[in-house]
This record gives sequence, C-alpha cells and structure tokens, in this order.
Amino acid sequence: MEVVIVQDAAAGGELIAGSIADLLRRKPDALIGVATGSTPLPIYQALSSLVGSGALDASEARVAQLDEYVGLPQGHPESYRSVVLREVVEPLGLKESSFLGPDGSAEDVAEACEAYDRALWQAGGVDLQLLGIGTDGHIGFNEPCSSLASRTRIKTLTEQTRVDNARFFGGDVDQVPRHVITQGIGTILEARHLVLLATGEGKADAVAQTVEGPLAALVPASALQLHQHATVVVDEAAASKLKLADYFRATYAAKPDWQGL
Ligand code: GLP
Repeated sequence: MEVVIVQDAAAGGELIAGSIADLLRRKPDALIGVATGSTPLPIYQALSSLVGSGALDASEARVAQLDEYVGLPQGHPESYRSVVLREVVEPLGLKESSFLGPDGSAEDVAEACEAYDRALWQAGGVDLQLLGIGTDGHIGFNEPCSSLASRTRIKTLTEQTRVDNARFFGGDVDQVPRHVITQGIGTILEARHLVLLATGEGKADAVAQTVEGPLAALVPASALQLHQHATVVVDEAAASKLKLADYFRATYAAKPDWQGL
C-alpha cells in the first residue's frame, strides 16, 4: 500500500478530492464509495469547492454508502443515508437516483444486505472507495475479528464504537444503535481503488497497526494490505507512530506526478 503523509486534515481532503476529480474527468459516471464520520468531511468540502468554482462537473457521478445504522426511523438526521445526502449528494449536485445504499429499516435485514451486494455488482463495482478508520481499526462497521472475506451483513457495534459515535447523538450513547449494516471486508476489497484517510493523534495506533502490523482480523483495516491499489493518507498526528514514516515521505516526494494517487 502507499502511505502519504500530509500536514493536516485540510491538505488530506484536497489531495483526495483532486484524485476523485481526476477520476471523474476520465469517467464522469464513476461510482464513488463514500464513508461517513468526521474524517472525510474535508474531502467533501474540497470537492464542493471544485464543483462551485466550475473546475469540476460531478453531475454524472454515482455514490454508494459504506454502511448504515439499523433501526433508525427513515429520515433520521444521523442515518448515514441522511448524512451522505447532506454532505455529498446535495452539495455536489448529484442526482438522488444515482445514490446506492443498504436499507437500514428493512424488515428482512439479511435480504437487504444481499440486495446491496447485488446492487453494487450490477452497478459495475465501486471505482474508488473512501474509508475512515475507527480507533479500534475498523473500516465501515467491520469491527475487530470481522472475517476478512465478509460480505455485506449485519454487525453488532462494540461499546467503544458506540461511545465514539455518541457525539452524533447528543452525547447520549444509549441513542446510538447497536446494530448496523456494513459492506463486508471482502466487498470493500472489490473496489478498484481504496483510499483511507486518518487524521488526529487518536488514530495513530490504528494506523500503525494497519500499515505496519500483521494482516489480522483483529485489525480489520489491515486487510488493505491485500489490495493491489490501496492508498493511506494520514496527517502528521495520525502518522506519529509509523516506524517507516521517513521512508513513506521520501517515496511520495519522489513519485512522478503522472502517477496520481
Ligand atoms: C464510523 C464509520 C466509519 C468511520 C468511523 C470513524 O464507525 N462507520 O466509516 O471511519 O466511524 O469516524 P471518524 O472519522 O468520525 O473518526
């Protein structure tokens, strides 16, 4: 995998937005897998600026959700569908019809999960999947010990993840759903390009284990080691526990521009 160390979250957002813009210029209807949480917001803000300034036309782009809470009422502001509509679909001027996501309020959750994997496949697969990372190394909502071959399915959140996400629910952990639907690790690995952004000191351990630790279900993000085109973008704080930081810096500095991310 390639590790790119940037100064701060804004620089990471701009770098990744630039890569998405390049992809959309080559393939206007590319399917972008979008992550939620605080980390990717600078990416979406930088993309919105490109669209707002006329430097990018994203109107044909398609987006696919990574995961979703189970059981939130339809239209709940913190359902990931609502978040993606608010942070990505509306500001970029995308068509709502071009937005794929699992149905977190389905009566038959197992069928909803299978239907989502089928929908991704029928849409031609994800071209570029954005990922954040949980403090415990999860990607999507694949908590530690998720099968590295897993498909989209229901998962139970760890207490740590519910505590981490309580800030989106007025600080009340009891309001954070226990169950979620997430693209499986096997599903995520089918995307053509994986781009994980991690910022802040709180992610430094998870990043070090992902990049330099062994491939292990205990650290779901370490599955990126299996992918032929995985890019990990980290700010200085999130990179602070990487032993090979100098090597990653030198390698990226020497990279030919035409290669992109
Ligand atoms: C949630 C999401 C993940 C995200 C993680 C980290 O668990 N399901 O996709 O990566 O939070 O969120 P943040 O970026 O806010 O730290």
